[in-house]
Amino acid sequence: MNEVLARAEVMPPDMDLKVPRANANPWPKLKAVQDADPVFWSDCQQAWFISRHEDVKAGFMDRRLSADRVTFLFGALPEELKKKYEPILFYFPQWVVLMDAPRHTRVRKLLLKGFTKPIIDGLADFTQGIVDELLDEVEVSGTVEFITEYAFKLPAYVIMHMLGVPRHMYDEFKGWSLDMARLVGAPEPTLELLDQTLRAVNDMNAAISKLIAERRAEPKEDLLTALIHAVDEGDTLNEDELLASCQVLMLAGHETTINMLGNGLLELIRHRAQWEQLRDNPEIVRTAIEELLRYNNVVGSLVREALEDFEWHGKQIKKGDVVYLMAYAANRDLRVYEDPDTLNFDRKNQFPLSFGPGIHFCLGNQLARMELEKSFAGIVKRFERAEILDDELDWNNSIVLRGMNSFNVKFHPKTENR
Ligand code: HEM
Repeated sequence: MNEVLARAEVMPPDMDLKVPRANANPWPKLKAVQDADPVFWSDCQQAWFISRHEDVKAGFMDRRLSADRVTFLFGALPEELKKKYEPILFYFPQWVVLMDAPRHTRVRKLLLKGFTKPIIDGLADFTQGIVDELLDEVEVSGTVEFITEYAFKLPAYVIMHMLGVPRHMYDEFKGWSLDMARLVGAPEPTLELLDQTLRAVNDMNAAISKLIAERRAEPKEDLLTALIHAVDEGDTLNEDELLASCQVLMLAGHETTINMLGNGLLELIRHRAQWEQLRDNPEIVRTAIEELLRYNNVVGSLVREALEDFEWHGKQIKKGDVVYLMAYAANRDLRVYEDPDTLNFDRKNQFPLSFGPGIHFCLGNQLARMELEKSFAGIVKRFERAEILDDELDWNNSIVLRGMNSFNVKFHPKTENR
């Protein structure tokens, strides 16, 4: 009996994604579900779990599954609260990542004008400069809380630079991003999360509106100017669409990369042989990053809603049902990856589902890869090794973006004769 069949005999436990620390080690439960039932109904989550690589991939491409989570997030709110949180309910549906075709097709085409190769390539020196600056600081301190001191700052500085947000606004930017991410990743929206997000949306809009006016008066070579001037067959993004797009770019470009920098460093520290392999063979950095994206993916579950009734692997999905596409489970599927629980930089068929695929395929994937490559190449080049100082890792509780709230690390400088 092969390993897949042997494991399939174990009945899967239901997965309560709301329990604290569910993100610490999700793999055994994910695998039990993956092996036993490709379309698993979770009673405690009241949703379908899709976990096999082939099915998650198909789910990303399936037009019967809507990415519009606005109803899922806010549908149950009483009318008076809908009124109170009206700005959130107005801007979130204009986020490209929460749209379905054909609205999505139109906005994505316009956003793509800001993600051209010259614009992304043009960020390489800036990104390297920030990586060097932050690693200089890490080297001086030796012991750092990596999420705050490095992982937060790099993607924030890069996106702020792209949007033209001045560096002195970093603390505000960080607050907006954190508040919106908490709401989007929460198992259910609470009034506290909604209040925080309302403040973040209003404050961010005020700041970005000012920048948009400045760019209209004086265009610059940045993403914000490119988006203001983006034209597709006479169509452009209006002011509210520009504001909504800046919100989604901040969130999509910041929270994902923060968590992946943390998860990636964690695995490099845990896997000394791979740290040394990357240090001694810097040319493998691209495949090393792909493998880290597969092995400890930041994207947990992407949530979809069924637009119609249909059958999937013999199960009846009903219109309105919530479906979780569990990318992190798919990335460790034994049906696709030999020895999936091993971090292997020589793996040939990585193809992780970490950036998509489908109509929402990550617009910032090249930028994210650039930030990860420069960071990890820089870390293994500069430091002999690093040590985890936390007795217990501080995993977040997000079902969408899996990562650590804090991560205390001691970096050891290279010995002189190396
Ligand atoms: C490690 C870092 C990153 C990961 C793992 C990641 C992952 C993803 C995934 C899985 C999606 C698809 C979401 C869905 O299907 O519902 C997505 C979409 C998106 N990402 Fe990323 N992302 C990362 C970094 C970035 C960066 C740096 C940016 C931009 C600055 C960005 C911008 C976007 C945008 C705008 C979308 C929506 C595209 C659309 O709806 O058409 N991402 N990302």
